Amino acid sequence: MKWLYIEEIDSTNKYAKEGISTDNISDQTVVYTYRQTAGRGRLQREWNYTGEDNIYASIVLKPSGQMKEVYSNLTQLLCVVLAEVFEEYSVVPKIKWPNDIRINGKKISGILAEAVTSQEGNLLGIVLGFGVNLNVPEELLEKINQPATSLNIETGMFIDKEEFLKKVIDKFCLYYNKFIEEGFLLIREDYKKRAEFLNKNVSVKVFDKTYEGIATDVTSNGALKLKDKNNKEHILLIGDIL
Ligand code: BTN
Repeated sequence: MKWLYIEEIDSTNKYAKEGISTDNISDQTVVYTYRQTAGRGRLQREWNYTGEDNIYASIVLKPSGQMKEVYSNLTQLLCVVLAEVFEEYSVVPKIKWPNDIRINGKKISGILAEAVTSQEGNLLGIVLGFGVNLNVPEELLEKINQPATSLNIETGMFIDKEEFLKKVIDKFCLYYNKFIEEGFLLIREDYKKRAEFLNKNVSVKVFDKTYEGIATDVTSNGALKLKDKNNKEHILLIGDIL
């Protein structure tokens, strides 16, 4: 992985997307910053800047050839990787489908994946942006638009962000090639054993529609299986659990 550090930027995802066709950003580059002034999240939300001791980074992948289904599961791979790294700090991370990580019911990291295509519709690259709360001051956590926590609070110690980020990138690289070959099945069990939504009643927003029911499984390609009150089964490939 190539490392690209920028002291301050509006959004590492935006920077990566804009530069994806240049030599500045080659395949397997991690763009990271200390100060992200206009971070973006899923569902048109913003990702708050909570100080220099947290992670704001984007992994850029530029696989050659056609779009493959497995690319849409890369956020779930990154999610499992993040969960495994959290566990090295003796905490218990839980996954909220598709790719949020929560500890004790509070969000600690989020992923925003964006694909960039040419005007002809060819895939130029994939940007996997992730933010991790490592050392967020408590008064800033309260300003986040949903219940949130930070690893320093969960462990009671200061977390070295460079060490954490290196662990994530090393682990991601370790899995990456095999994952592209084998797909979501490679991590399905690792993903499911940390899933906090399984066998629970959930509401899932898919564009303008909301599905309600029991989350019964995660399929072999990472989709969420939901059974509604009429026992009708839904397979949701994209969406967000509310
Ligand atoms: C979410 O809504 O949970 C996803 C948050 C993703 C935030 C990260 S921080 C680095 C990268 N750059 C951005 O603008 N967003 C992502």
